[in-house]
Parts: sequence; C-alpha cells; structure tokens
Amino acid sequence: MKQQINYLGQNGYFGAYGGRFVPEILIPAVDELNQAFQEILQDGEFFKQYYDLLMDFSGRPTPLTYAAGLSEYFGKAKIFIKREDLNHSGAHKVNNVLGQGLLMKKLGKTRVIAETGAGQHGVATAIMAAKMGFKATIYMGAEDAERQYANVFWMKQLGAEVVPVTSGTATLKDAINEALRDWAGNFDNTHYALGTACGPRPFPEMVTYFQSVISKEMKKQLKELCGKYPDRIYSCLGGGSNAMGAFVEFLQEPEVELIAVEAGGKGEASGKHASRIAYDKAKAGVSQGYKTLFLQDEDGQMLDTWSISAGLDYVGVSPILAHLADTGRVRVEAATDAEVIDAFQLIISKEGLIPALESTHAFAGLFREIADTKPDDIVVVNMSGRGDKDIFNIGEALQDEGWKTFVKERGKRYAD
Ligand SMILES: Cc1ncc(COP(=O)(O)O)c(C=O)c1O
Repeated sequence: MKQQINYLGQNGYFGAYGGRFVPEILIPAVDELNQAFQEILQDGEFFKQYYDLLMDFSGRPTPLTYAAGLSEYFGKAKIFIKREDLNHSGAHKVNNVLGQGLLMKKLGKTRVIAETGAGQHGVATAIMAAKMGFKATIYMGAEDAERQYANVFWMKQLGAEVVPVTSGTATLKDAINEALRDWAGNFDNTHYALGTACGPRPFPEMVTYFQSVISKEMKKQLKELCGKYPDRIYSCLGGGSNAMGAFVEFLQEPEVELIAVEAGGKGEASGKHASRIAYDKAKAGVSQGYKTLFLQDEDGQMLDTWSISAGLDYVGVSPILAHLADTGRVRVEAATDAEVIDAFQLIISKEGLIPALESTHAFAGLFREIADTKPDDIVVVNMSGRGDKDIFNIGEALQDEGWKTFVKERGKRYAD
C-alpha cells in the first residue's frame, strides 16, 4: 500500500525553505536518490520490509511509558515518554539509517559515508554497514570526537573509518561539508546517509519519512492507552529528525500542540548557544546544499554554536521545521545547559531513566511550562536517546567527586 505523508512541502520546498543547492557534479547523485525515494513511497512492500527489519533488529515498536513519578511530582498533566532510547544503538538515529541502508541495496551502492555530531548517527551508520556488508567512512568534527569519544570507539570497533574534521569549528557543520565533498567524488559506488532532516532534496523528506515510525506508533499507542491524542508533544531540536519523526503524523491534528526545544547553551545573552529559532537569531540563507535558517553574521558567515549536548550543536535547522515554525504549527523554545542539568537530575531520580542530554532539552522545555497544563491533559516527551554516551559531560557538569577521582586514576594508568 502507498504510504501517506504530510510534510506540507512541494517539490522539495517547504514555504521559503528547502530545495537542492548542490554543485553541478552532485546533481546526478541527488537526482538518483530522489527518484529511488519517490519509488519507495509508492511501494508498500518496501515499507513492510523496512519495518520488519526495525522490529527484528532494533526492537521496535518502542514503548510509550507512563511517567508516574514525574506526573505525580508536578501534579499537572499526565506525562508519557516515547522510548526511542530503547532502539538498538540507543537512539532514534537507527530508524533512518536502516531505511537508507535498504535504499542503498536498491541502488547497488557498496560504500556509505555519513557525518555525525554526538556520534549516535555515526554509530548507527557503522552498525548498518556492518550488518549489511558495506564499507563505511564517518566524518566527525574533531571537537565532537573528543566530547563523544565512546562513540568514536564503537564506530571503529564496528569496522568504520572515522575521519576527524579540524576545519571551521570542528563540529557538525564542518563534518557535513567534508561528507558532501567525499560524495561529489565517489557517488558512483557511495551513498551519503545524512543523519538529520536537513540537506538537499530529498534528504529532509526522506529522513522524516524514515523517522515517521515514531509518530505512527505513538498514534496507535495513545489510542490504546489514553483513548485520545495528546494535548502536547515535546521533542528536542538539533537538525530536526526526531522532532519531525514525533510530529509528522500529528501535523494534521490541530488540537495537538507541537513544541520543539533547541539548545539554549549558556543563554541568549551569552551568544553561546545553538538556538536558531527560539532566540530569533537566525536568518535565511543557502549553505550545505539547502536553504534554511542559519545562525550567521552580517556577511553571511556561519556563527559558532555551543551546547552541552553535541547532537544539538548545529548552525542550521530542518527546512521543514523552519517552515512549520514560520506558519505557527510548531512552537520552538530553547532550554539552557543549566536547565538541562536540573531536568536530568529530576528525570533520573523520579523515573529511573537516563536520558541523552539532547532528549533532556525536550523534558526541560516541558518542565518550564508544566504549570500551565491541567491534570486531564496528556503530554508526550520524545526521549530520542539514552544518556550513557554523555557520562563524561554529565559527570563534569555535576562536578561529581567520585567521577573525577575515577577519571584521574584511569588517566594515570595510561600516562606515559
Ligand atoms: C539522542 C539524540 N537526540 C537528538 C539528536 C539531534 O538530532 P535531530 O534533531 O536530528 O533529532 C541527536 C543527534 O545526534 C541525538 O544523538
């Protein structure tokens, strides 16, 4: 059966954003990919094969857990958590990558390249390559590689080549530039598995399509558990893949409020953040193959970004979300690093869950406004990933003495 998707886009454009602004040499690559994507949209068998793989390999469907501890603590809305942390590899990123892996097979490609920020998409891509028998090269900003070394370790163990990128701010946008460069030279045998709902057409729609499993499942689970759709859904917002995944099936349900939470970093006044929309600091521009809101200076140079969480530290944003924010369908907020650490401590103590720092932004957004909700309201937080990977950042942010001693002792063991 043909799959219905409601992206509110047309020919790769979402209002003023989107498109495909790639060098001429890449046009055949994006054309080929777009054609294959349009074909799978008409092919119900592909979706079935994809979802079977997600069930068998990644453990879908992920549960929708009632957060009794947090709900009772606040005494306001009933809070449910969509558990993308329970996917294989610990985050939603694997949904997209397994879909792109099946598409690669259809296209006859044998090598995959990817960019990664927090490393979750890199690990997911390396897992997919190992399972499906592809060669993998992962580009990662040198700064992110240091912050998320545990993920670098896993990518290498899985057999991927990890290339640290030292240009620019050595973060995600620089890794994307390198991946695009590689693709331009090698697309005859290489697929670029972009990890978020950004980049040239068809990536924003395609990644949204593969992540739409999140809201497809949510709709069914909410009907069973609550008998109605939620009043609000909160997701964190980096490039936008988990937010689009959680929102897309509810775009046509006007009673459901959709809230995306960006990285407020050290706060608006500090300039050290990655909030493109909530702080109203980004301007429309064309870069990295597409048009969207980028944080940029007067000359159009990309600004440095900052977040405690590597996965939200990106200078652009999904063109689909930029458009949905313009039209008011999605409300965009920002949570600061300090709010995120407070939220993290509350979640871990009340629910026994260890959310990724990225996902904790979504919770922090909810906690800030939960006083406005009523006890009959249903609120869903999309927990995009688990926090094991963030142990170094969280240990440091909490200034935990036991953790500091452990790191010092381990360091001594490896000192020359
Ligand atoms: C767990 C987790 N959540 C969210 C994100 C942000 O990406 P996106 O906005 O595409 O969901 C990342 C990115 O690495 C991530 O690892």
